[in-house]
Amino acid sequence: MSYKRIEITDEQLARQRDLMERVADINARQAARPLALVDTYGCQQNEADSEKIRGMLNTMGYDMTSDEYAADVIVINTCAVREHAEQRVLGNVGALSHTKRAKPSQIICLCGCMMQEEGMADRIKNSYRHVRVVFGPHELWRFPEFLLRQLEGGKRIFETSPSDGCVTEGLPSQRDSAVKAWLPVMYGCNNFCSYCIVPYVRGRERSRRAEDVLAEARELARAGYRDITLLGQNVNSYGKDLPDGVDFSDLIARINDIPGDFLIRFMTSHPKDAGEKLFSTMAKCEKCARHIHLPFQSGSNRVLSAMNRRYTREDYLELVKKARSYMPDVVITSDVIVGFPGETEEEFEETLSLVEEVRFDALFTFIFSPRAGTPAASMPDPYTREQKQRRFDRLVELQNRVSEEKHRAYIGSTARVLVDGEEGEVLTARTSGGRLVRLKGDRSLIGTFQNVRITDSNTWALYGELI
Ligand code: SAM
Ligand code: SF4
Ligand code: F3S
Repeated sequence: MSYKRIEITDEQLARQRDLMERVADINARQAARPLALVDTYGCQQNEADSEKIRGMLNTMGYDMTSDEYAADVIVINTCAVREHAEQRVLGNVGALSHTKRAKPSQIICLCGCMMQEEGMADRIKNSYRHVRVVFGPHELWRFPEFLLRQLEGGKRIFETSPSDGCVTEGLPSQRDSAVKAWLPVMYGCNNFCSYCIVPYVRGRERSRRAEDVLAEARELARAGYRDITLLGQNVNSYGKDLPDGVDFSDLIARINDIPGDFLIRFMTSHPKDAGEKLFSTMAKCEKCARHIHLPFQSGSNRVLSAMNRRYTREDYLELVKKARSYMPDVVITSDVIVGFPGETEEEFEETLSLVEEVRFDALFTFIFSPRAGTPAASMPDPYTREQKQRRFDRLVELQNRVSEEKHRAYIGSTARVLVDGEEGEVLTARTSGGRLVRLKGDRSLIGTFQNVRITDSNTWALYGELI
């Protein structure tokens, strides 16, 4: 796949920094600091992008709010992966006509994957006239320019030209958590699974340079982050577009060498590209969490081939065996789609049998959602929504049973967990495998590793006591 690497230059970024200062000057003349609201849909990549948007807003003099009537600027970072996510976005954007009416100076911006879909920008232009700015993921770094143009009374902005995408370094980031951090290592996807819109809206695979990733990881470790998740749609392709020969396993090993007490996680691994080197690296890197998210999507070879996944059921089962041979305690989670066009009852049963065989610790289950422009959207699909829903319910029931059994097996064991938050009176923590543990303790423990004894469990969580 040919792709010309586009890096946003220092000059281009310096210009955006100047524009940020100009917005900050305008805002400094206000009686009070203006407010901004950023609402995020979709995956961790979008969460990471929203942290950049907040970072830019903060630099431009905005404080954050969750009150949409109080906000001077609203940014909605959208997801296109399933129709349901899109309808939620459109419903919420429609409702913002009220806030705009109550506060006519409010600047409403839409960005993210959904805006990059063909025809979407026109739809917003014509039907959501209260929206002032629309931009796709490739234009994120130009947000200061768009905002300044609005503050100076400019026309509505629509910046969603098709692009293979770029790599941008050096944008400010305001992170959501002081304990866990997202660290994107690559962007885009080349896989074109036949159901998936991501390659069309996020562009081609491109990796950040290892030195940039390492510099950010060092900074996170120095700032005291305890859990760093490396992000990419297919992290196992990391580095294939770079000249220095560093692959994803090498990158993990180098991050593992950074001093500090922190865990390294990553997502997502594509089964066709994961293998021995990744598992042996995970096993020997003491900071690497004992967890791999390895989406299988279907247990039927016919469906896998129609999905363009490029591995078989047998390949997948072999891979799981290999991962467990290196790390017997590794937690394996996965994604699966029910009701892919033409999936028969027998083919669905093969998905159930794969779930029985692997015994995933947790599963993210989706009903197929046709995405315009993808090959699967025009495949014949004789099964009804009700039939698919019944299959979905059976799958969820099976996985709930497996999760409950796997969680029960933790009772009586001890684990080192990272305390990462609180829910009312209870602290929440995660095991190295990413399992949720609820425990009693003082909130000053948030951000620390603790040893706990697991005393109880259910389908979704473990319960523990500090040792
Ligand atoms: N890149 C990752 C991978 O290949 O596993 C995940 C990408 S996607 C954001 C997350 C999950 O959404 C996929 O693993 C798939 O199960 C699901 N998904 C993607 N497109 C879908 C569609 N059209 N309908 C239903 N589920 C979909
Ligand atoms: Fe979508 Fe497949 Fe790429 Fe994942 S690997 S983002 S499912 S096309
Ligand atoms: Fe959605 Fe875009 Fe992520 S489509 S799942 S936000 S890459």
